[in-house]
Amino acid sequence: MQQRDLANGKIWFNEALLTEDPNACFDIAYWQQQDRVIGSAQGRGTTWFIKGEKTEMALRHYRRGGLFGKLVADSYWFTGWQKTRSLQEFSLLQKLHEQGVKVPAPIAARAIKSGFTYRADILQQKIPHSQDLVGLLSQQTLSENLWHQIGQTIAQMHQAKVNHTDLNCHNILLEQQQQVWLIDFDKCYQQSGKGWQQGNLDRLLRSFNKEVTKRNIHFNQDNWQALLAGYRAK
Ligand SMILES: Nc1ncnc2c1ncn2[C@@H]1O[C@H](COP(=O)(O)OP(=O)(O)O)[C@@H](O)[C@H]1O
Ligand SMILES: [Mg+2]
Repeated sequence: MQQRDLANGKIWFNEALLTEDPNACFDIAYWQQQDRVIGSAQGRGTTWFIKGEKTEMALRHYRRGGLFGKLVADSYWFTGWQKTRSLQEFSLLQKLHEQGVKVPAPIAARAIKSGFTYRADILQQKIPHSQDLVGLLSQQTLSENLWHQIGQTIAQMHQAKVNHTDLNCHNILLEQQQQVWLIDFDKCYQQSGKGWQQGNLDRLLRSFNKEVTKRNIHFNQDNWQALLAGYRAK
């Protein structure tokens, strides 16, 4: 990982994946001018998809949700560069990626300080030809084998001691409807001990059930049992 110091901030990046200017790569206008924006997705904010020289990328600005977010939309209290949301997520993705867990490779992260607070951005590898589980399950069922694989991928993440504090069916992607990827590691962290793993699974089950009510997605108890079987087999 390379680091670049700015007057009021820092940039961390992987030069094997980013050949463009690290100072400009978090600026959506920079990519628009070159006609390299290939799409976007709407979550808390907008995630932009960009055609980089090395790989397709996903660009996200860190934003708060909820009521508090209406007051301070994208500012976070600064307590050191190591603790910024962007560097934390970058480092966690790097660890998981190195251990062979299917997560996007981190490409670049930035934090810019103003007074006691900072704003942050992250650039990651875009998972090609992917769809999130909610989108997919709105249209079709998944094979038992795929449910198994989802469980296995979660188990691999847990073996790397990573607590995904927002594990829900929007944060699981399927590439070409066959390869499972986990995304959205903002605020996630490594943890030892027991208990929190079950917490991740409980949250995921709640999110499936919620989408059944909301969108009538294809999900039933057999699917969940297949996921758990895959999880335990790993
Ligand atoms: N690396 C990626 N590759 C492909 N799609 C992505 C990637 N990161 C995010 N997305 C898409 O953008 C959506 C929102 O991104 P996410 O990181 O989950 O942010 P949030 O949920 O905080 O808004 C995801 O549900 C997914 O559809
Ligand atoms: Mg998300």
